[in-house]
Amino acid sequence: MEEEKKYPNIMLTGDRPTGRLHIGHYVGSLKRRVELQNQGGFDEMYIMIADTQALTDNAGNIAKVRDNVIEVALDYLACGIDPSKVTIFVQSRIPELFEFTCYFMDLVTLSRLERNPTVKAELGMRGFGESIPVGFLTYPISQASDILAFGTTIVPAGEDQMPMVEQAQEIAHKFNSLYGEVFPEPKIMLPETAVARRLCGTDGKAKMSKSLGNAIYLSDDAKTVEKAVMSMFTDPTHLNVSDPGHTEGNPVFIYLEAFATDEHFAKYLPEYPNLEALEEHYRRGGLGDVTVKRFLVKVLNDVLEPIRQRRHEFEKDIASVYRILEEGTAKAREAAAKIAFRARRAMGINYFEDKKHIEKQQKAFNRAHEQETKLAEYLAKQKK
Ligand code: TRP
Repeated sequence: MEEEKKYPNIMLTGDRPTGRLHIGHYVGSLKRRVELQNQGGFDEMYIMIADTQALTDNAGNIAKVRDNVIEVALDYLACGIDPSKVTIFVQSRIPELFEFTCYFMDLVTLSRLERNPTVKAELGMRGFGESIPVGFLTYPISQASDILAFGTTIVPAGEDQMPMVEQAQEIAHKFNSLYGEVFPEPKIMLPETAVARRLCGTDGKAKMSKSLGNAIYLSDDAKTVEKAVMSMFTDPTHLNVSDPGHTEGNPVFIYLEAFATDEHFAKYLPEYPNLEALEEHYRRGGLGDVTVKRFLVKVLNDVLEPIRQRRHEFEKDIASVYRILEEGTAKAREAAAKIAFRARRAMGINYFEDKKHIEKQQKAFNRAHEQETKLAEYLAKQKK
């Protein structure tokens, strides 16, 4: 039996630095990253601040990207990402990523890029019209580089990143079959629950996002969280306290599902043993929105308080946060350089390192010269 090539278990994921991270990011991925980090099942773990990708639609707004690099780094550290276990790095400072992007561009067709569903949806939202930046259209190739450059096997990410991971798989496959096995085909690791997959906004809109103004940020203070929750959308048919209410599709109950534990009930709302009991009362009628919202405020602030406190500590020494990024980036670069070396070797463009090839070429040139000399000698003889 042929032995299957064994790759180390490597995790990589990342975020565009276009804003502070919110509670949707937390339930959708940050919490999981910290759990994976603490389980210790990976040989290497990388989290990338994707500034180059953020620039693909922010070329005229460098300040936004630059200023959010530190915000995202602070959010990571605040959530408990430990830089001694996870390499946190900045995309733009790894030149090998751009080298990979150039090689991979030759393995992907324009029509394949145009078919990427996430890019398609984003193109619609961005309103580029006919003026699509080339860098934007091709960012899935650059993202494939992010993933493949580290020998990544697992990409924890949301459903919207599935088409990106698929393109990375295709590129890995194409590269391996053209030049020889260099890259493992990476797999996506999706969030486990529906609420984690997509947390709605405070207005009940499908997605929590900065641009919709319906987000609660990890770095929001307790008062801001309270204000946001107290003005949240609930069940529009639940007009009087005595009316029966709907919990399904009700943002307040969706957030409770995402964040409230039985311990929170014991601590802040002991009249109910758990969420099912609260939901049951709401559906029956006689439970007011304000009671539920006040509970949600307590739950969210309970979850966010330790995150805020850690953030405040890191905010006191911004230079050392940049140092964490710098060290992580140096480490990531070393790893990417190793794989780039292997990729160039497989492609046969490692001109300076391939001593055997240099010798072979030398021999071929020598042989040619010998033949030329022999021919000249022969011709000279004939003339005589
Ligand atoms: N596209 C991701 C986002 O928009 C960010 C990202 C860039 C990423 N490179 C990555 C995610 C590599 C996972 C793996 O959030």
